[in-house]
Amino acid sequence: MDSPFEILGIESDADDDEVVRAYRKRVKEAHPDQGGSTREFLLVQTAYEKIQDGHADEPLEIERADRANDDTASRNGHDPAHEATNGAGGADDADHEDEDDEQEEGYRVEYLNYETLADHGWDLGDDDLFEKAADANLDPEDYGQLSFTSDKNLLAAAEKCGYPWPYACRGGACANCAIAVVEGEVEMPSNHILSQEMVDRGLRLSCISVPKTDELKIIYNVKSLPGLEELRLPAQQFDKARSND
Ligand code: FES
Repeated sequence: MDSPFEILGIESDADDDEVVRAYRKRVKEAHPDQGGSTREFLLVQTAYEKIQDGHADEPLEIERADRANDDTASRNGHDPAHEATNGAGGADDADHEDEDDEQEEGYRVEYLNYETLADHGWDLGDDDLFEKAADANLDPEDYGQLSFTSDKNLLAAAEKCGYPWPYACRGGACANCAIAVVEGEVEMPSNHILSQEMVDRGLRLSCISVPKTDELKIIYNVKSLPGLEELRLPAQQFDKARSND
């Protein structure tokens, strides 16, 4: 099995800057949007966390990555979220309901992949969209819940839970990571991209948005909505622009 350093493509005596640079490069290459896979993306994340935590010599916990690809083991995204955050929420087992309620702190985000709507004849404006999604036996990457306790932005929270949502710049400069907030509130500290009309419709950028309410319902992957498509940025183009700075 490759060591965390090998997974990041660096020597085991690499300094902190080299580790961070290698991680940023590898995590982009491994992202499914860039030709990677969920499993590879999680392996890179786990390798980086091991090195950062000083546990680079420990075996990688790739089980999380395997489970992210196993829709029978993690129906509706509940298990990966629960496992990754060690938090409450998303457990299917009713026996654990009381225990989960006691642990319930932080944020719970119910998410739905916009790409599934057309397949089922649903519309973004449907009042019962999430009820229909809950009954549709969707893949955990498409529908489920994230639970997390820190003030993470929504994109980072999804990634931490094993779900590589779309992105390009990670800095509020494109619409690749756009989401539609259906219920609850998020805080987006700056906005130079979305029009006021888009914001009024509930559109936000997941890479810079943090929850303001304990519970949220969001549609992610709405980057193909009218008006957003022209605000999208090819990730490679962004990388090139940034590397030329
Ligand atoms: S990824 Fe570009 S604004 Fe979020």
